[in-house]
Amino acid sequence: MALFIWKDEYSVGISSIDEEHKKLVSLLNELHSSMLSASAHSILEKLLTELSEYTIYHFKNEENLMKDHKYPKYEEQKKYHKFFTDKIATYLEDFKNGKIFITVELLFFLKDWLINHINGIDKQYSDFFIERGVK
Ligand SMILES: [Fe+2]
Repeated sequence: MALFIWKDEYSVGISSIDEEHKKLVSLLNELHSSMLSASAHSILEKLLTELSEYTIYHFKNEENLMKDHKYPKYEEQKKYHKFFTDKIATYLEDFKNGKIFITVELLFFLKDWLINHINGIDKQYSDFFIERGVK
């Protein structure tokens, strides 16, 4: 059973952003199934690195869109993004150094964070971008 099953209600109405969110969901699921099958440390490290890098890429795209369209909550979103990318970077470092393991709790934290990110702060920009023709 996948950790995170995508539902249409998560759509922000902008297909390029939805695709990136789906990619984050699938990376998280991959990490989850690798953890359950007790994959090697190097595989988990590779997946966590990929998740971290893709999250940075996704946030950058969102921030560029916000900057281009002068989204009023740009600064707020940026701070929120930084909090999360710092958190994943810390997990990654700690995992590399053997200080932490990838646990169900950690994955649930990431999953909950992602759902809250999409349903909370991201949904707030939907109408703003759609009105400006972003697809
Ligand atoms: Fe997002």
